[in-house]
Amino acid sequence: MQIKIAPSILSADFSRLGDEIRAVEEAGAEWIHIDVMDGHYVSNITIGPVVVESIRKVTRLPLDVHLMITDPDKYGPEFIKAGADWISIHPETCEEPKTSLKKIRELGAKASIAVNPDVPLDQVERYFPDIDMVLMMTVFPGFAGQAFIEDVLPKIEKAKKVIERRKLPILIEADGGIKADNIARVVEAGAEVIVSGSGIFKTSDYADTIRRMREAGNKK
Ligand code: DX5
Ligand code: ZN
Repeated sequence: MQIKIAPSILSADFSRLGDEIRAVEEAGAEWIHIDVMDGHYVSNITIGPVVVESIRKVTRLPLDVHLMITDPDKYGPEFIKAGADWISIHPETCEEPKTSLKKIRELGAKASIAVNPDVPLDQVERYFPDIDMVLMMTVFPGFAGQAFIEDVLPKIEKAKKVIERRKLPILIEADGGIKADNIARVVEAGAEVIVSGSGIFKTSDYADTIRRMREAGNKK
């Protein structure tokens, strides 16, 4: 399986954000993962639509916007307008997730549901007909640089089986604590889009790191 590497810019040097994005693009990344936090759903505050609009100008890679905010219905459309290709929402932040997902697709973006480590798959399976991707959180949302939660792996395996059995065109993305030394297990479980923040941006040679991640992942 050919994996996609999505560096999370949360760990980039924000004083040189354009250069950092160009650098991971040149280093072979397929997507750019953008973590949006509002200080309500999670205690951290990060990036708004204005920044996404600027990022859109420096890369042609798909922008994978992960909304960790209490009002995705209000702000989702703004991020799509700013250039987001993918929008992930946490179902617990939506009044009716199916309506939110439908709206994202109507506005021309791909829709994804984010599943926290303590949320069982059964709770989100009913959204599968309405999504293009399921984002499996391998840390609790809020901060970069946290330790990978091993217990999520069986859930990724289960999701993979359900998607195959139901023949659904859904990608599985894994996000949190993934680095070159544990990516193989995540891919083996069934993830094909791999988010990595500190695992890439805190290393000195992005091309070498991404090559090692890809080698380890694609072996599976
Ligand atoms: C966590 C974010 C992740 C995080 C990944 O709330 O959704 O995308 O930035 O960073 P690392 O790879 O450092 O765990
Ligand atoms: Zn994320």
